[in-house]
Amino acid sequence: MGVSAVLPDQPLRDLDEWDDFLEGRYKEGKSEEEFRVYDATATPGVAEFYRQNHENMTVDYVLAKEAEYFSLKKGQKTVWEAADFLNTLVDDSDPDTDLTQIEHLLQTSEAMRRDGCPRWMILTGFIHDLGKCLCLYGEPQWGVVGDTFPVGCAWSKDIVFHEYFAKNPDRLVPEYQTEYGIYAPNCGLENVHMSFGHDGYIAQVMKPYLRDESLYMLRFHSFYPWHKHGAYDYLCTEKDRSMLQWVLKFNQYDLYSKGHTKPNLKELKPYYDDLFAEFLPPTLAW
Ligand SMILES: [Fe+2]
Ligand SMILES: [Fe+2]
Repeated sequence: MGVSAVLPDQPLRDLDEWDDFLEGRYKEGKSEEEFRVYDATATPGVAEFYRQNHENMTVDYVLAKEAEYFSLKKGQKTVWEAADFLNTLVDDSDPDTDLTQIEHLLQTSEAMRRDGCPRWMILTGFIHDLGKCLCLYGEPQWGVVGDTFPVGCAWSKDIVFHEYFAKNPDRLVPEYQTEYGIYAPNCGLENVHMSFGHDGYIAQVMKPYLRDESLYMLRFHSFYPWHKHGAYDYLCTEKDRSMLQWVLKFNQYDLYSKGHTKPNLKELKPYYDDLFAEFLPPTLAW
């Protein structure tokens, strides 16, 4: 039984359907023009998912979810416990061909390890999607995954399915509809309220322990309008711009490291035990 059976009206078959959509949208070698080929008829579940996201992701919603989750009051868990918890999110499709959530995380981090990436980045690869456990706390798919974007200022044309913002109530707040909205020019992404989702949540959990490069990868890995399309530069500082290269480096692995070979968790576990111990305390507040 998948999470779609837990909450009514969940348009995605499972959270990975969004990842698959991204992979198709940003296929390696595709030109700007080509990757714009998506519409509601080709991917009805994904379109409905974005409709819900764009219509409901308001400033008020984001502030409420930040207050609820960024205070980290969901209890203490080790990284393995968090990964096991996320693994209870099983999808409805064929269990023989599909990878578990932990296997997906290991594919990302193991691809980084094969390429000789620094240890902090391999750790980041393993933990980057642990925030998807928000679904298990009862959050709807549209509040957990999907491309992220700033709220409280005009929506960039580079946000996928932009037309669905027509019914977002923030449309009627003039202050939110200017280029800078509630922000000052070049205020820095750290001062921006991003649409709520798994990215911001995992960055918050890891904030006391990891370096900026890692936190940028975590917090902005779904901020496609920025890292793939160059939008919202007018909110960025030089620091944000210098961190972009790391987010892009990370994105290669997030998008393209999926394969069908199942990583051998038992074999890999000692390496990851050491890796977690090097950077993180035994348990973390979630
Ligand atoms: Fe993600
Ligand atoms: Fe991911």
